[in-house]
Amino acid sequence: MELIRRVSLMREISREKRGRGKKIALVPTMGALHDGHLSLVRRARDLADIVVVSIFVNPTQFGPREDYERYPRDLARDADLCIAEGVDYVFAPEANDMYPPGYRTWVEVEGLSSVLEGASRPGHFRGVCTVVLKLLNIVRPHFALFGQKDAQQAIIVRRMVRDLNVDVELVVCETVRQPDGLALSSRNAYLSPEDRAAATVLFRALERARVLVEDEGETDAARVEREVREVLAGEPRVRVDYVALVDEDDLQPVERIERPVLVALAAWLGDTRLIDNVIVKPRKRGGEQPS
Ligand code: PAJ
Repeated sequence: MELIRRVSLMREISREKRGRGKKIALVPTMGALHDGHLSLVRRARDLADIVVVSIFVNPTQFGPREDYERYPRDLARDADLCIAEGVDYVFAPEANDMYPPGYRTWVEVEGLSSVLEGASRPGHFRGVCTVVLKLLNIVRPHFALFGQKDAQQAIIVRRMVRDLNVDVELVVCETVRQPDGLALSSRNAYLSPEDRAAATVLFRALERARVLVEDEGETDAARVEREVREVLAGEPRVRVDYVALVDEDDLQPVERIERPVLVALAAWLGDTRLIDNVIVKPRKRGGEQPS
């Protein structure tokens, strides 16, 4: 494994590998790697000859009152994990190499970026899209891997890639969870033991949505949302930011669940904001189970 700190060197390496016909896969991360990230790395290892993991806590996707300063950083530990997974390159650029003085260009995916996470975190997806496009331009991967955990991010990046004709294949990997259902997240490290225990309610609430739609045949999105909120309300430590049932392509609210629907939520536990989601698939007409 080689640790690359300079944008210019990463570009050179990618150009050379591509020139020799090697397939490159990129896993963009902000570090503090956990099994969720590593599931992407393993998939990348299966897909490509060269696996690049980028580790960059991207300042432009954090709001002024968010956790940029205290976001967990441990490059030595992350590098060890990458070595164990057979990663070829860890690309960990400095902020002033990614955003040198005079930097002025931003990527905005309109509409999709202003709902759900975007409504609560103005400017967040502008920062995400900008840095992801920069990483794609620097590393020039054949494959880029993202997690379903950040469903809206994956949807927006997919739209950006399509709209801007970026030559890359996106691969979205399933959410990796703890045995009790909590989705792995670097921000789980902020949780007190009490909040960690309470956080399982997020998965239980989403599981309620899945049972309602897939086992009981419920098609009324408002009813599903109400029940999800009820489950969450059973845990007094949790403060709900949003619960939404939206179309999995355009993130528009749905009323009837007639196609797969994204059930997304965000909630606060103390000072920590967690997100999670599930895609629920309606039962086929005639009462069959979804395949
Ligand atoms: P980060 O939060 O570090 O996540 C990196 C990738 O890991 C994302 O694609 C995310 O969806 C995926 N991931 C996180 N937790 C996961 C889990 N429990 N199961 C499966 N995948 C999981 O997302 C970002 O960084 C940044 O916004 C980034 C895309 C790197 C741009 O800065």
